[in-house]
Amino acid sequence: MKDTTLLAYSGGLDTSVLIKWIQQKYDSEVITLTVDVGQQNDLKAIEKKAKSLGVKKHYSIDAKEEFVTNHVFPAIKANALYEGKYPVSTALARPLIASKMVKIAEEEGIKAVAHGCTGKGNDQVRFDITIKSLAPRLKIIAPVREWGLTRDEEIKFAKANGIQISPTTSPYSIDQNLWGRSIECGVLEDPSHEPPEEVFEWTVPPEKAPDKPEYVTIEFEGGIPCAINGENLNPVGLIQTLNKIAGKHGVGRIDHMEDRLVGIKSREIYECPAATVLLEAHKDLEKTVLTRHEVLFKQQIDAQWTFLVYTGLWMDPLREDLEAFINKTQDRVCGEVKVKLYKGGLQVVGRSSPMSLYDVNLATYDIQTTFDQSCSKGFIELWGLPTTMSNILKKKKEGEKK
Ligand code: ARG
Repeated sequence: MKDTTLLAYSGGLDTSVLIKWIQQKYDSEVITLTVDVGQQNDLKAIEKKAKSLGVKKHYSIDAKEEFVTNHVFPAIKANALYEGKYPVSTALARPLIASKMVKIAEEEGIKAVAHGCTGKGNDQVRFDITIKSLAPRLKIIAPVREWGLTRDEEIKFAKANGIQISPTTSPYSIDQNLWGRSIECGVLEDPSHEPPEEVFEWTVPPEKAPDKPEYVTIEFEGGIPCAINGENLNPVGLIQTLNKIAGKHGVGRIDHMEDRLVGIKSREIYECPAATVLLEAHKDLEKTVLTRHEVLFKQQIDAQWTFLVYTGLWMDPLREDLEAFINKTQDRVCGEVKVKLYKGGLQVVGRSSPMSLYDVNLATYDIQTTFDQSCSKGFIELWGLPTTMSNILKKKKEGEKK
């Protein structure tokens, strides 16, 4: 009996070619799996396509809610922006997809799993380490990493094997989920050139956005967004709604010079409307309710969490260690943040919280204040003591040299 390989299947050209490639070059039967993390593809059509390419069985798993609850929400709590810009959208979904691959492989008694990642990116790292952590004995095959086919050769192979290539097959490599859209390749590889309008799907160009600003109020509970404009929404619905609203105003376009784990610098384009809004709002609310010491310390923890996730170490125990700290701080992160969306721009214009540490009686420049300004003189004396002392000494030494 032939072996069976479980393939993570997107329905795109690469993974369609992989079905045939694995059947022929590895002499193996193929079972395909598509995990729905909100990429907005037609799952029925994907299943049909897989079946038409002769797979033994096809699985579709709706993991949207799990994705938002267990991956996106922790990222919001960690203010996750890799290198200050990228909301790690693709990175967040990979370990979830990998865990579903392991689950199906185990249920089916399959000994090998395959993915379509190249040897140049971060995704191979995320898939391989997650799979290895969950099922050390599972064999991982990544044919694209080994095959060395050019795009033209790949298309030739596809044609020879009856794989349909639609004239609309995109020249770009695109990865989508609820948290964002990543777009690479083609003309985007010249970082000096502005991305053409055709690469964007979720956002309008700012110049074509409505002439009137829109205000959106986001409510947070325990660091997690739970309502928009006073309406409670489920996790998936909330992200979908915000993607639409912010996208309509051209908010969430990101053009990033990124450092991949393998050392390559790459120019990446993202569309992350909901992520852009929620991360900005969450960070603002944290600054309202956490102490200065917490805010500054947490920035280091957040950066470490984001680095782990970006570099494929979702399964490292350090992630959960860091989350223990992060979650403790989030108890107080509740309240409302009002943002203003206008022509590609996003601004937080108001916030309120029952846990706010802001005290107008302290902060006001009015005469009527509870802040005792006479304390400041002595405070400054001591705060600056080491600095003023060292400068006095420096002056003295300079005087001695002359
Ligand atoms: N550079 C991003 C990351 O490493 C996006 C990768 C997108 N993947 C793709 N197949 N287009 O997370």
